[in-house]
Amino acid sequence: MTAPSPAGTPEPMIRFRGVTKTYSGSAAPAVENLTLDVPRGSITVFVGPSGCGKTTSLRMINRMVEPSSGTITVDGQDVTAVPAATLRRSMGYVMQSSGLLPHRTVLDNIGTVPRLNGASRAAARQRAAELLATVGLDADLGRRYPAQLSGGQQQRVGVARALAADPPVLLMDEPFSAVDPVVRAELQDELLRLQRELAKTIVFVTHDIDEATLLGDRVAVFAEGGRLAQYAPPEELLRAPRDEFVAAFVGRDRGFRHLSFQDGGAVRLHGVQILDPAQLADPRVPVRDGWALAVDADRRPLGWVPAAARGQVTAPEQLVPGGSIYPVGESLRRALDSALSSPSGLGVAVDRAGAVVGCIRPAEVLELIERARMRRGRARHGTAV
Ligand SMILES: Nc1ncnc2c1ncn2[C@@H]1O[C@H](COP(=O)(O)OP(=O)(O)OP(=O)(O)O)[C@@H](O)[C@H]1O
Ligand SMILES: [Mg+2]
Repeated sequence: MTAPSPAGTPEPMIRFRGVTKTYSGSAAPAVENLTLDVPRGSITVFVGPSGCGKTTSLRMINRMVEPSSGTITVDGQDVTAVPAATLRRSMGYVMQSSGLLPHRTVLDNIGTVPRLNGASRAAARQRAAELLATVGLDADLGRRYPAQLSGGQQQRVGVARALAADPPVLLMDEPFSAVDPVVRAELQDELLRLQRELAKTIVFVTHDIDEATLLGDRVAVFAEGGRLAQYAPPEELLRAPRDEFVAAFVGRDRGFRHLSFQDGGAVRLHGVQILDPAQLADPRVPVRDGWALAVDADRRPLGWVPAAARGQVTAPEQLVPGGSIYPVGESLRRALDSALSSPSGLGVAVDRAGAVVGCIRPAEVLELIERARMRRGRARHGTAV
């Protein structure tokens, strides 16, 4: 049993209690014994390296994934007591790829859930048109098809669609990861502006600690093995990281801005198994060590092949999409983003032509960043910091 909230503190909107998820066929849990409260009307961010269980945790909230044990309540109600379809419709969901229906116009995409909830076509379109303005898009974009929009515009439409039924809860899974940094910053600002008006309960997933501390009222840092390493407001994470992992992960935020301009040329490159198009197509070519990287004829990266799924992955569209790319010589910040966003845990380093030259490891990039920070501290204060 949990203690009642002190008077004046509203009940949390979402509660995880001892939630574990082990996917069938895997030995280790994707999420382990997660206990956490998501306060009402605020933004809670799940952050951490690839594969640490962020998406799994998010999807258990609307039962896209069922927990193996433990309970989740939304607004006081156990989610397993609500039919999954009803639950899903009662929450907005935004993904990294906008997930828009390609053969429907923008307006009809936005109106999907109101229609499912029984709104007339005219009412749904009316609402959709209002929402276009809410997310900062011109009205005439409403008649276009998703493919006729930029990546940033598509993500805005994704947000509008998630808001269409005016759900109290919004689940967002790396919604801004696939757009370039400038558009990403715009979308982040827009979300904060929207949130000031709408005061939804938002759970937002990212692997970017900068994004997490910018957007989150509270930030949950996940570590490998689906373990919650720390859950606190951003300033507390930065001031008092609970362990080495959190310190390394958030530590880079102090003075992080400077790293954008810093040469990342010293990042060590490691070899990685490469599958050219012919090797990819031939399932007899084994994946030797966990993951292999598929490339095109010009050695540009296409995506990853996990050893366990080698037999099923023989064509580019079956690959596990990679994270961001690290062009050699770019900033440590880009290097870290690449290493943290990769499903294999290895960032892909490319040359000027975009061809793969090797892989980089998150721990090594973090170490370089830490060293750069120390050097800067010494230069400024005449002593190590
Ligand atoms: N449907 C599935 N079946 C089996 N294992 C899965 C499934 N989905 C995820 N996993 C595994 O569970 C673990 C957590 O995955 P999850 O997608 O929750 O991580 P994540 O933190 O969202 O990662 P990313 O940053 O790459 O999106 C990983 O080891 C992953 O391989
Ligand atoms: Mg994920």
